[in-house]
Amino acid sequence: MTDVRNLAASRDALILAHYYQTMDIQRAAGAVGDSFELAKKAASAPQKTLIFCGVRFMAESAKILCPDKTVILPVQDAGCPMADMVTPDDVRKLREKHPGAAVMAYVNTSAEVKAVCDICCTSSSAERVARSLQEEEIIFLPDKNLGAFVAARVPEKRFILFDGHCPIHHRVTADDVNAARNQYPGARILLHPECPPEAVALADGAGSTSWILQQVEQTPPGSRFIIGTEEGIIERLRETAPGRECFILKPGFVCEDMKKTTHDDVVRALNGEIPAVTLDKALMEQARKSLTRMMAVG
Ligand code: 13P
Ligand code: SF4
Repeated sequence: MTDVRNLAASRDALILAHYYQTMDIQRAAGAVGDSFELAKKAASAPQKTLIFCGVRFMAESAKILCPDKTVILPVQDAGCPMADMVTPDDVRKLREKHPGAAVMAYVNTSAEVKAVCDICCTSSSAERVARSLQEEEIIFLPDKNLGAFVAARVPEKRFILFDGHCPIHHRVTADDVNAARNQYPGARILLHPECPPEAVALADGAGSTSWILQQVEQTPPGSRFIIGTEEGIIERLRETAPGRECFILKPGFVCEDMKKTTHDDVVRALNGEIPAVTLDKALMEQARKSLTRMMAVG
């Protein structure tokens, strides 16, 4: 098997992997993180080439932030169904209806949507981003669940939520949370805020993928957790938090798109056999405004 780390070094490339990737991809990567951490790593990477093991909106964001770098998404059709739920036309219509509102877009959006929004956010920065806005009214898109989560934490603003969702996290119900609590007594239940609000309300906490990882890693061995997000997180915790017992909230918690990337795809990407992400220059300039505004909030 090709040693991808050595191959990446010889190609002046950085392999970035989201926590939802399979463990062999996470182990091969030079940087692993949630979507916000990966965007920051991409923006500060000294390497000329970025191999983005994630889904398309993540690779596009890296390209927009680093237009002079070659950014490769190893599997061309690794997308995010939630990102596909909102179009620039939807944003225009919402702006017409709510002329005084700021438009805040989850990074899980296309470059075209980012280009017509005011500011981006990730699940870990959403609350900070909402507070940073001067406008009292915020159009939040596309994820109504993350939007409701932020709205509850920033009550001083009025939120208009777009009707989008992540098909994987949106399946979680309040009954699932109650059933898991009965099945694993004493375990802390941690959910991703892409889960519906009625499920989040019954959990012991909700936050981004890196927040969930930190919660588990910071507790002593012997602690028990029920995790309500993509199962790649559980695989990672087996390595980074040995001795803690982690159970998935419900079976089949898998993002098929995130799981498409294989070792061979990464080798092909490093060997220049996969086309790089290309985006129109003017589109990138426009989309960069909302991404860099998010990065400035921190
Ligand atoms: P994070 O921002 O927590 O990495 O989540 C990204 C994502 O797509 C969750 O479904
Ligand atoms: Fe998109 Fe959901 Fe997959 Fe995240 S888990 S990449 S939001 S489909």
